Amino acid sequence: MDITILGIESSCDDTSAAVIRNRTLLSNVIASQAVHQKYGGVIPELASRAHQQNIIPVVDTALKEAGITIDKVDAIAFTRGPGLLGSLLVGVSFAKGLSIARNIPLVEVNHLEGHILSHFVDMPDREIPHPDFPFLCLLVSGGHTQIVRVDAPTKMEIIGTTIDDAAGEAFDKCAKVMGLPYPGGPVIDRLAKEGNPETFKFAKPHVEGAYDYSFSGLKTSFLYTLRDAVKENPNFVEENKADLCASLQKTIVDILLDKLVKASKATGIKDIAIAGGVSANSGLRNGIEAMGRRRGWRTFLPEFKFTTDNAAMIATAGHYRYMAGELSSLEVSPVARLQDL
Ligand code: KG4
Ligand code: ZN
Repeated sequence: MDITILGIESSCDDTSAAVIRNRTLLSNVIASQAVHQKYGGVIPELASRAHQQNIIPVVDTALKEAGITIDKVDAIAFTRGPGLLGSLLVGVSFAKGLSIARNIPLVEVNHLEGHILSHFVDMPDREIPHPDFPFLCLLVSGGHTQIVRVDAPTKMEIIGTTIDDAAGEAFDKCAKVMGLPYPGGPVIDRLAKEGNPETFKFAKPHVEGAYDYSFSGLKTSFLYTLRDAVKENPNFVEENKADLCASLQKTIVDILLDKLVKASKATGIKDIAIAGGVSANSGLRNGIEAMGRRRGWRTFLPEFKFTTDNAAMIATAGHYRYMAGELSSLEVSPVARLQDL
């Protein structure tokens, strides 16, 4: 029997809806919100309002592109959290309304599990390699940096996490200091390609937890390097932008890989995946592949369109929850923090 899932994602600043059938992608529509760019970061109030405007056309388009009507949907999977509360409320309320109106079961999805399960979205026209269980996933986004041990699609354990900033935040905050536009990660990635990663050295953290991360020290070290240099030469940032970006990116990648290698050695797990917005970073992608060749890993890099927020991954996570009989009640409410989920 065919299982068709409608996925809805609204946790941050992308409104997205997707349809999958037996895990194969039929449509994945994303409305990104340009409104935040001029403020240098996501403004929650504006994000909620844009979700409210986008959600109906986005879901409607996803169904049309999939070539189905709503009565063919077996379950509605939605992001319950973590994320911005006002943004999540729009997706959750819409999913509930649709569920009541059409008598379709609801399935809640943890956004971070969604990112990890983006490796199990099947494409209609090509084979996508899937990691075997158990595998380790380095989840790197704007809000989270974690090493997750994945034993099954619905059984995961966070074995390492950041104690302060996320990797994406480190990219974005350092970009801001250099006067680069938001989000800074992709801009640094682009500029780094022209620079020498060995030019500058920044502080690397010593964190207690075996697989835990810290990025706030690096941010401070970056800031001080710039502040001191600009005193001598006001054009320092402009003249050294590419080298600064390349050196910063290399430091972040080194920090990320160091703990991942430790986790792989300790667990003996050699199927290694990356997910989340920062998994689009070319330095990280090359770094993981190079490390994989050295250590006999099988590495799994998501397709670019599945690195940032999308509903295809939410629908996929929802598929597994639905198959496990884990339905949500109409009383479900969104949750902003992972700890409360
Ligand atoms: O997963 P995501 O889309 O949203 C969250 O759930 O946070 O991740 C967004 C983050 C931002 O910090 C952005 O700068 C970063 O991903 N990012 C990148 C790249 N593309 C996006 N960071 C470094 N290099 C990239 N190519
Ligand atoms: Zn995300």
